[in-house]
Amino acid sequence: IKTIGVLTSGGDAPGMNAAIRAVVRTALANGLKVKGIRRGFSGLLEEDIVDMDGKSVSDTIQRGGTILYTARSKEFMTSEGQDKGAEICRKHGIDGVVVIGGDGSFQGAEKLAARGINTIGLPGTIDLDISCTDYTIGFDTAVNTAMEAIDKVRDTSTSHERCSIIEVMGRNAGYIALWCGIANGAEDILITERYDHNEQNIIDNIIHRKQIGKTHHIIVNAEGIGDSYGMAKRIEAATGIETRATIIGHIQRGGSPTCRDRVYASIMGSLAVDLLCKGASNRVVGYRDGEFVDYDIKEALAMSKDIDQYMYDMAKRLSR
Ligand code: F6P
Repeated sequence: IKTIGVLTSGGDAPGMNAAIRAVVRTALANGLKVKGIRRGFSGLLEEDIVDMDGKSVSDTIQRGGTILYTARSKEFMTSEGQDKGAEICRKHGIDGVVVIGGDGSFQGAEKLAARGINTIGLPGTIDLDISCTDYTIGFDTAVNTAMEAIDKVRDTSTSHERCSIIEVMGRNAGYIALWCGIANGAEDILITERYDHNEQNIIDNIIHRKQIGKTHHIIVNAEGIGDSYGMAKRIEAATGIETRATIIGHIQRGGSPTCRDRVYASIMGSLAVDLLCKGASNRVVGYRDGEFVDYDIKEALAMSKDIDQYMYDMAKRLSR
């Protein structure tokens, strides 16, 4: 390996910059060159490639977003696009690529690997929905951001003795909702993995709690279920209790990464370069059972995971 390329792809996540910085500086420490591929696979196809040195990543570890920008590329999903991407890597002397993103990005990494470019994937998404790992870059920051926002909504919700529905991100996964639901002491947590869509149960629960003297009712709703405004109207009509919906939205994707996201992203970035230096390819770095590990990308993509049933049941018990 002589030159490593690094790119971020899919939704951005706080901590991606810490990972990029670790890739760049670890590569330089190993005497390698580094090229930043901007705007993910889409930028690769447009040859949006810049040389990076130690200074390119100065003053970035504390920043949210990704200094390399990110994009979702349709063209790279085609085999012609993948051939072209591998060819461009060769043209720029890039013989190893670190891909920071989610499952879709790993599929892209696998295609490059199959075309002779060594690739390592790093799990970067606020959603935590990557099966091979218990940790993804950005999740910790996102749940802390959402948790603080929900605390604020709760203050005003209690003052007005209202019911509040707060929608958090996670189109296909309820991890953010579950963690915030626990951390914020929500009365109900609605996640696609478990919700039975029986709104009457929620309504009965709200009425019952009001009767026993509760002054507020917080519902954390995952984006995958959505319809928070509609739900608020229906709940208010059925219970007679003022109900408001708040969609936290992209605030959860930005902001300065937490200590955990900076440190784990740094470790993962360093490990990615270590793996490339050892000649590894088509691997994804994960964190499982308290250890940093790596898996074959195909194996990693074939894994599945579900939300922790104990956490889910516990959340219900604690909210009673
Ligand atoms: O995958 C991260 C994520 O923030 C999801 O939680 C959300 O559903 C999606 O991205 C939103 O994507 P976009 O920013 O393209 O609207």
